[in-house]
Amino acid sequence: MNFKKDTVVFVMGVTGVGKSTIGKLIAEKLKIPFFDGDDFHPKENVEKMLKGIPLIDTDRQGWLVSLNQLAKDQLKTTSCVIACSALKKKYRDRLNFEILPQVKWVHLTGSFECISKRMAQRTDHFMPIELLNSQFAILENPIEAIEVDINLTPNEIIEKVMKELFKKSEFGLFGLGVMGKSLCRNLAKNGFQISMFNRHVVGVEENVAANFKNEFKELTTSHAFDSIELFVQSIAQPRKIMLMVNAGKTIDFVIEDLLPFLSEGDIIIDGGNSNFKNTIERTDFLKTKKIHFIGAGISGGEEGALNGPSIMPSGDKEVYQSVAPYLEKIAAKGEKNMPCCIYIGPKGSGHFVKMVHNGIEYAEMQLLAEVYDILKVQGNNPSESAEILSTWKATANSYLLEITIDILRKKENEDWLVHKIMDKAGNKGTGNWATIETAQLGVPSSLISTALFARFTSFYKNDRVELQQIYGKRPSQKLDITTNDLFEAFQFARIINHYQGFKLIFEASKVYNWELNLSDIASIWTNGSIIKSKLMGDLVVVLKESDSILMNEKLSIKIKELKPAINKVVSECVLNELAAPCFSESVNFFNACTTANSSANVIQAQRDYFGAHTYQRVDDETGQFYHTIWK
Ligand code: 6PG
Repeated sequence: MNFKKDTVVFVMGVTGVGKSTIGKLIAEKLKIPFFDGDDFHPKENVEKMLKGIPLIDTDRQGWLVSLNQLAKDQLKTTSCVIACSALKKKYRDRLNFEILPQVKWVHLTGSFECISKRMAQRTDHFMPIELLNSQFAILENPIEAIEVDINLTPNEIIEKVMKELFKKSEFGLFGLGVMGKSLCRNLAKNGFQISMFNRHVVGVEENVAANFKNEFKELTTSHAFDSIELFVQSIAQPRKIMLMVNAGKTIDFVIEDLLPFLSEGDIIIDGGNSNFKNTIERTDFLKTKKIHFIGAGISGGEEGALNGPSIMPSGDKEVYQSVAPYLEKIAAKGEKNMPCCIYIGPKGSGHFVKMVHNGIEYAEMQLLAEVYDILKVQGNNPSESAEILSTWKATANSYLLEITIDILRKKENEDWLVHKIMDKAGNKGTGNWATIETAQLGVPSSLISTALFARFTSFYKNDRVELQQIYGKRPSQKLDITTNDLFEAFQFARIINHYQGFKLIFEASKVYNWELNLSDIASIWTNGSIIKSKLMGDLVVVLKESDSILMNEKLSIKIKELKPAINKVVSECVLNELAAPCFSESVNFFNACTTANSSANVIQAQRDYFGAHTYQRVDDETGQFYHTIWK
């Protein structure tokens, strides 16, 4: 910051905090002029104040305009310090008018008792002590000010102000929703100097950043803003700004808002669940503006974001190096204490990988819901089911298993809360995209789509209620399976789910030339992530040996062991008319993908019959295509 000519420091606070004294000291230190705002009050205002009559807003209007003009005039040649109470936001807005980027606020604060004691000792001031009350009453705390306690010595105060005036944040976070807030706290706890922004929407989102900053001790040295311009300016260049706003059009609007204030080489990180195709477009667009873009999938929900999420960043590798120290520090730590954050690959790949992560998550959640349903049919109440599930933790623990146990145990009065929850499952889009993408790439990751369609089916609650009346409630009796059968079937289906998810990443990596490392991806999902599990830990090793989980020798032995159980569970579900879509799909898919000679010859013949689409012959190794006149 150049204090020779481009900054106005306003020193504000209620009467008696020592604005003039401190203002003068700051000006001396910076070798710039000082002005006492009180000297610019018109005569009428001074008289009113002397009589102990509080000023009203119209009295202040002209005074604020003249101080703003003073600041503007000074800025033509020099920086300056102006002491001025500026207690309300609208007064400060008037003082900032047309010079906002050049203004710095210093807010001197102290308790009523402390200030009134000081005032009682003063003889040189025209403000009677009675006015202090009214000043405290109208004070609206500024969010973008350097706040200094007047109990510090003048030297300490100046030292703090100087430090803050010249300090820039090293990282910015835009959007203080649940995830944004947790990430801010995580960054601050890890010792990073951050700037935080949340928009100001009257009556809806007011003083979000300031209130949040005041709520947590670790945020004391962070900077809170509701002005995009000031937020951007508070960050050291090249700026690193993470967006934690809703995926979709909002990201584009935010980028549009940020762009006028950014400088060449700044980096925007999108930490939301954005569609990877949009991320590719945004990266290309921002490149034309000489701004870098890192698309980073983040998993772990509120708790993960606070204590260590799993992060999937992608974009230009060199650019990633500049944000790596922040992302890797705040990420969860996996095996050998390695951060659950690695450079995934070129633009868009991080959000693609996060999308598949969510697809796997959907299927894992659906499988647990099916387990719950089956255990219910077997006569277990939610607590009993939770007991059964907790015995599975020893061999098949996962975050989703743990939370399901907690959910099933939760009671509201005499009943379980889960009984009170409407059976309509929502979604925010990543499962849809994964399904669209797996179809577009021609990869049969069918558990993701099955889990997604199960959510869609659940949403037709009224239809289901009506149809049950027509077709009757089922099942009527317990399934002929043991709890161990169910456990083994569950493990089987999970392996298939993970096989399909990694297969989708593998195929996409080939098509898009991303050169993704499946084992590394599994490793950053071993902690922090919603799909962290013991199985994921095993897959880190498996995927080092082969890109296909099903080809792994150890796992193939396991799958063969588990197969009878899934056959039994799915058969019993079908016979008893209990919907278990992901269980069923896992075994059907497995049967299909392990069948050397399938029924697709008939499909190909049919295609050739009505559309002359041709076919290849098993007895012709050249791969030549044939057409037959079928009739
Ligand atoms: C995570 C989650 C998280 C979130 C998504 C998916 O990894 O932390 O995937 O990103 O749960 O919003 O949620 P939907 O179920 O709403 O699609």
